[in-house]
Amino acid sequence: MIRSSRSSYVLAVVALGGGIAAAQPPHPPAPVPHTAAVPNAALKLPFKDDARIEFVAAVNKAEWAKLTAFWNEATEEATDPVGGKVARRVVRIKVPLGLSKAPDVPPENPMTVAKWALGKRLYYDKVLSANGKVACATCHDPKKGFTDQLPVSLGINDEKGGINAPTVVNSAYHKFQFWDGRATSLEDQSQGPVGNPKEMFAGGGDAWEGAVKRLRQSPEYVKQFEQVFGHAPTRDAAAKAIAAYERTVLVGNSVYDRAEAAMKKRVADDDAEEAKLKPADFAKVLKQAFAAMDTNALKSLGLDPDRDVAKADAVGAKLASGRALFFGKARCSNCHVGDNFTDLTFHNLGAGAKDGVLPEAEYARFAALPTGHKDPAMIGGQKTPGLRGLLDTAPYLHDGSEKTLEGVIDFYDRGGNVNEFLDPKMRDTEAEAKIARAWASGQKISLPEGAIKTRDGSPVIPFKLNLTGDEKADLVLFLKALQGDPVDPTVADPGWFPKK
Ligand code: HEC
Ligand code: HEC
Repeated sequence: MIRSSRSSYVLAVVALGGGIAAAQPPHPPAPVPHTAAVPNAALKLPFKDDARIEFVAAVNKAEWAKLTAFWNEATEEATDPVGGKVARRVVRIKVPLGLSKAPDVPPENPMTVAKWALGKRLYYDKVLSANGKVACATCHDPKKGFTDQLPVSLGINDEKGGINAPTVVNSAYHKFQFWDGRATSLEDQSQGPVGNPKEMFAGGGDAWEGAVKRLRQSPEYVKQFEQVFGHAPTRDAAAKAIAAYERTVLVGNSVYDRAEAAMKKRVADDDAEEAKLKPADFAKVLKQAFAAMDTNALKSLGLDPDRDVAKADAVGAKLASGRALFFGKARCSNCHVGDNFTDLTFHNLGAGAKDGVLPEAEYARFAALPTGHKDPAMIGGQKTPGLRGLLDTAPYLHDGSEKTLEGVIDFYDRGGNVNEFLDPKMRDTEAEAKIARAWASGQKISLPEGAIKTRDGSPVIPFKLNLTGDEKADLVLFLKALQGDPVDPTVADPGWFPKK
């Protein structure tokens, strides 16, 4: 008797592919709270069907080189929770060239194919908005570089929001989300819009309670959440799924990344070669782009794929000049550094300041910092955005005040918008110190044009870059060379889902 009940226990476990909960005495089904819930393993996908997503980045050279597409399906041997070996599906994502590392994934939200598919569905579904009219994709549209291309977003009742929608592209690499960094993960961020009266919420009751209720009215969503999370839809699970999808919105393999790779290869092949990008490195990858009819890469630089191959050398020279300016005279790399061209921190450039005064509503990072942690250096600090895919995301800056890249360069050329909290990296600190010393010794020196005094009387002198017309053009061309391949269709096409 005892023996046979033991063996049926084992059978039940095997039949459920490791669903250990099935062996326990049945509980009456507990109501599932809307915020977060305890998973019931018996509801989840069987272990053998719960395919992982794995990022493979260029640091993992051999594996990375083997992958030919962005989305690669394979099988792997895995060990299930009761120690059995199973062969199961795995999806390997080839992280685009230039993004040398895989994005960080929080341990409590591992990437799986089913979770990604659920997150993708939620991202494009208007069900999360109170009036059923707005989805994440409304303001972060794959056809518009994952933005809305508006100066400031339009919300649920076509109401103007206060700020420009940043792109979701490569947001997996940000340490902080939002211009003021008030969220520290994509999971944290994705809960914001649903409850924001200017975005997806019409007011009345708890926004997430309403959104979760709507999800639970859909039998397909209930089934999908149960299979992925082991319980009915909750806010916690929806946030996790959306974040898993967003982590795959990646852009790289720009003309600049390719030129860097060509340079590294040149140096590896020949010890005598200098590890420095040359016009010829750019020209080489441009010629390759012409040979491969890479219209996206060529058009982003204003080149006609059919006619302009003879221009490759001249454009290569301009790109090398633009690069030298970016990392040199124009001082862009003081803040735009690393794979995604951001220092992941905050700076006051003065966008939003008027006549030298920054309104309190523009205090940004300072306002977002918790009480007890206010840092005056963060007054008006906006997050440094990445610089990939810029051709799709105009207008620029947090207030959408610059319509073109040329406009952005002119903005930097004059030292940003002066205000008393202007970032030290935007200021001529040497000239400021000189004037302050002269004033202290009683000399009457007047401030240069465009400079102001702070409330305590010290000078703020914006650092003018003094770029020539040609230099500005080269810098703009270099920014266009950071454009990169479009987001892969497996991610950007709302209708594409992996086969079960
Ligand atoms: C009505 C337009 C609108 C909708 C709908 C919307 N967003 Fe946004 N999103 C914005 C705006 C505007 C910001 C910037 C807000 C800020 O910084 O204060 C933003 C910021 C973000 C960021 C931060 C990016 C960065 O670089 O800091 C991410 C990620 C994001 N949204 C994802 C989503 C997701 C996921 C959804 C759906 C759950 C969503 N958004 C819905 C307009 C929208
Ligand atoms: C002191 C740090 C700093 C320096 C130096 C700097 N940037 Fe920025 N950049 C930022 C910050 C912060 C923002 C966002 C500011 C805002 O929206 O108010 C920004 C925004 C931008 C944007 C707009 C991106 C978007 O999505 O809206 C572009 C383009 C840009 N910078 C390019 C450059 C170039 C080119 C240079 C060199 C000429 C440069 N930056 C120098 C910090 C800096």
